[in-house]
Amino acid sequence: AQPKVMVFAGSARVGSLNKRFAKLAAERLDVLGGAATFVDLNDYPCPLFDEEIEAQGTPENVLKLRELLAEHDGVLIASPEYNGFITPLLKNTLDWLSRPHGDTPGLALFAGKPAGLIAASPGGLGGIRALPVVQHLLHNLNLVVIPPAMSLPGAADAFDDNGALKDEAKAQQLDALCLRLIKAMR
Ligand code: FNR
Repeated sequence: AQPKVMVFAGSARVGSLNKRFAKLAAERLDVLGGAATFVDLNDYPCPLFDEEIEAQGTPENVLKLRELLAEHDGVLIASPEYNGFITPLLKNTLDWLSRPHGDTPGLALFAGKPAGLIAASPGGLGGIRALPVVQHLLHNLNLVVIPPAMSLPGAADAFDDNGALKDEAKAQQLDALCLRLIKAMR
């Protein structure tokens, strides 16, 4: 069977460059032998994590995201960089997903799953400073991060009208990352 990858970006906005990058990665994963599901976090708004909100019952959208995570063999995350760090949305989403789930600890949903990491920024560094932060967080969640991660500088001008990467070297880099992720899931 084709390994299933849950693909999402740490940005909810409609014009998100990281969503664009994540959607392209999902397309490439499908072409290269995986089965990707692009998940738009804008469709699953979750409250800012608070243990007292959690004590009142896990929010519906958190449950839906957990179901999605459970159904997939690996993840691919496109992370924006905010002040050299990750976004509150990505941290919040991962914190909710890490929490206990009935009899199953939330962390078990992540355990051993391979994770690919990409970042896009309109700036010249392409979000490269956020990548080790995401990597550290995913490591703490028991995901297996597949190196190397990929950054995309100048992302506002990096895509053509079909959503493909204009730069052939970058397109090859993305394909190589997708192939490594698929191999790790197998
Ligand atoms: C940014 N941006 C940014 N870019 C970057 O390359 N390095 C950085 O440290 C930051 N810091 C930062 C902080 C905050 C609070 C904001 C709102 C933005 C710019 C950021 O890369 C840009 O807005 C991206 O387009 C955000 O990603 P999405 O939403 O397009 O996926």
